[in-house]
Amino acid sequence: MQGKDLLSISDLGRDDIRRLISGAVEMKTAGRRSALAEKVLALLFEKPSLRHRVSFEVAMRQLGGHCIYLSPADVGLGQRESVADVARVLSGYVDCIAARVFSHQALVLFAQHSRVPVINSLSDLEHPCQALADLLTIYEKKGELEGLTIAYVGDANNVAHSLMLAAALAGMNFRIASPAGYAVAPALLGQAGDLTAASKGTIFCTEDPRLAVSGADIVYTDVWTSMGQESEAEKRRKAFAGYQVNSELLSLARADAIFMHDLPAHRGEEVTDAVMDGPQSVVFEQSENKMHMLKALLLDILGGLEVGQADYR
Ligand code: NVA
Repeated sequence: MQGKDLLSISDLGRDDIRRLISGAVEMKTAGRRSALAEKVLALLFEKPSLRHRVSFEVAMRQLGGHCIYLSPADVGLGQRESVADVARVLSGYVDCIAARVFSHQALVLFAQHSRVPVINSLSDLEHPCQALADLLTIYEKKGELEGLTIAYVGDANNVAHSLMLAAALAGMNFRIASPAGYAVAPALLGQAGDLTAASKGTIFCTEDPRLAVSGADIVYTDVWTSMGQESEAEKRRKAFAGYQVNSELLSLARADAIFMHDLPAHRGEEVTDAVMDGPQSVVFEQSENKMHMLKALLLDILGGLEVGQADYR
């Protein structure tokens, strides 16, 4: 990935995923290095962030580099200044840019005009860093990826899209249960289908959460109302009413199934307290893993990640 952008999970191949997981596993035990000394990462964030902002900042610091955080008020992407001009200016100062944006199209335009690598730190279409960290968590908990069944219950949003593409690349069986009107767009399904052609993965869409969860190894959900959709919250609460991951739904998965959520969670909506805080939940390890995965990713893009004893093959 050296010098490359990460805008979508589909920018990666199977080998990239293997190398990044191995690298992130190494980061957990030997994560303080000076490999990125003098490197500067700009965080250009149009939306709030707890986990990603802190993970990026700690990751850069522990690797010897620095971060500069730019809030919506600082930049006004596409409003105070054109997307292309912000990219041209900012990429003259820093070594890499992680951007959290409303519009994926704007992110693509931004990357076209940036002279340094751009990392998608969440757009309306994808959340690739999250999906990479999620594969790390699944790998740690299950010891493998290929052949596992992951059931995503809820909105076919940015998190679901990247998770589906990542699962397809890794040869997993991805099931998604969403109500009518909130299912995965056909173009994305086609993209995931193409990826499964080269792996042993499968993709299955349904409106029935019970069908999706039955016998699954991993049960995953995300908020029903994503950032930027707040005006639809009431309508979405009604549409997703039957899609809550509660103890009863989770009991249909395998007895050793894990529960995952990218956070922040809207407790009482998409997930109950009993599931979030229950013995199958790995949500807080999952959020910590974001930092370890971002370290591997930053090293890979900025310095060339050398994985000594490749852990995941
Ligand atoms: N789907 C959520 C993810 C937050 C990390 C959102 O876009 O708001």
